[in-house]
Amino acid sequence: MRKTTTILAIETSCDETGVALVRKQNDEITTLENELASQIDVHSATGGVVPNIAAREHSVALPLLLAKILAKHSQSAIDAIAVTVGPGLLPALAVGVTAARTLAWAWQKPLVPVHHIEGHIYSALLQGEIQFPALALIVSGGHTLLIEVKGHLSYTTIGTTRDDAAGEAFDKIARLLGLPYPGGPSLSKLAKAGDSKAFTFPRPMLRTDTLDFSFSGLKTAVVYAMRELSPQDQELKKADLAASFEAAVVDTLIGKVKKALQQKPYTAMLLAGGVAANQPLRAALTKLCAQLHTPLRVAPLSLCGDNALMIGQVGAIAFEHGRGSSWQDLDATARMPVESFNAAVLQPDLSGRELPGEGSV
Ligand code: KG4
Ligand code: ZN
Repeated sequence: MRKTTTILAIETSCDETGVALVRKQNDEITTLENELASQIDVHSATGGVVPNIAAREHSVALPLLLAKILAKHSQSAIDAIAVTVGPGLLPALAVGVTAARTLAWAWQKPLVPVHHIEGHIYSALLQGEIQFPALALIVSGGHTLLIEVKGHLSYTTIGTTRDDAAGEAFDKIARLLGLPYPGGPSLSKLAKAGDSKAFTFPRPMLRTDTLDFSFSGLKTAVVYAMRELSPQDQELKKADLAASFEAAVVDTLIGKVKKALQQKPYTAMLLAGGVAANQPLRAALTKLCAQLHTPLRVAPLSLCGDNALMIGQVGAIAFEHGRGSSWQDLDATARMPVESFNAAVLQPDLSGRELPGEGSV
């Protein structure tokens, strides 16, 4: 008999409101719905994400996206509600978690808490035959992580950033160059017209044994290089600065991946997260993996940025592995390592739960 699990998924950790409906039948996961409301226009006015404004935007968009999907699908077909509980911006996360808890109470269905980074990992992992152990490079606005994916839902972080995340560095340098928000894509676009060898920027921590990253020194190097240029030259050499900076970030990321792949045999390499949309990074990792004969799975461009589909995919797998929580037991958490999440497997028991205040006068 074919086992079917249908999951409603909610993602509100940063500046994208996502709702998706996914169905898992044995090993096959299909997308029934995938809705996304971007806040890019709102945040470009401030040049970055303001948590309370992000939360307000989520609270406007989320009911609309839910209503759109639920107009087409009966809640009786939904087995559980998956929601990103962290890490992310707490006010933003709280909107999604509150909505998920409310629906879980109203429908008497279990919740499946999902770690945001798990979502990114699975957006690449599911792009081919699943093999473990895999090495994941997750690069986004908030994270630069090298994660050993030991099996389904089983992770060990082997490298992380000691300061700025890769995407954060892109965003900060883009702002310095006067480029529009979000900085990563605009900087990368400008870099295409520049010479990546025009400036020699550091490749931080490549000569150390650790698999950790650091991008604040690189950022400072770009600031100093700009200070030495006249305002006219800063303008003239903008594309060269962007290209040289981008090359330094890519070399640094690739250098650490190479080190990790040489330390231990992995059956696959995974690349995901917002910065995984970066073409030079995709190209460099493709080349490295070909050289090392490691199969590479890259998140499709449509799933590099935050979305609820990836949360639904993890939710479906995690639910079948017994992860679940009742509406009373769930909360948003701004910071939490992805490995500690395995311990947060709670068995849902929705039978006979009393509502707060019920039975009391
Ligand atoms: O995963 P994501 O959408 O949100 C977080 O969870 O942080 O990642 C957003 C980050 C931003 O810093 C953005 O500038 C960066 O991904 N990004 C890029 C590119 N597209 C998005 N960075 C470099 N090159 C790109 N093409
Ligand atoms: Zn993300």
